Amino acid sequence: MNMSKSEIAILKEKAVQAAKNAHAPYSHFSVGAALESEDGTIYIGCNVESSSYGLTVCAERNAIASAIVDGQKKFKAMAVYSLNAATPCGACRQVIWDICKDIPIYLFDNQGNDKQINASDLLPYPFDDKMLEGI
Ligand code: THU
Repeated sequence: MNMSKSEIAILKEKAVQAAKNAHAPYSHFSVGAALESEDGTIYIGCNVESSSYGLTVCAERNAIASAIVDGQKKFKAMAVYSLNAATPCGACRQVIWDICKDIPIYLFDNQGNDKQINASDLLPYPFDDKMLEGI
């Protein structure tokens, strides 16, 4: 699914706004994600940290959870914003692949160092539901 420049700009702005709500008192690293579903609805997420650090949930997975709660099944693209245009962590790569399949992911910082990468590039040789077929 091709994204227009204006669609990407809107997705970026939503991710920037979401990062402002990050609950990151331990890492002080705010991340915002915006996920566009096939029907054009945009779902946002920010990282939500826990004092029990391992319970932290990343921005990307919170955006995905929000879309799933709303009944969405198919997705067009995701934007992720952080101060250094960080790439999604390993756990998020798996969940992006599972739920969103091979969508483009646009990474942004506040310096214009924008990158675009596909989910399949982030997670080559993925484990997924095909591996569970026939079991
Ligand atoms: N984080 C995300 O939200 N997304 C990523 O892709 C990488 C890491 C969060 C988790 C934690 O709150 C903080 O960034 C530092 O790891």
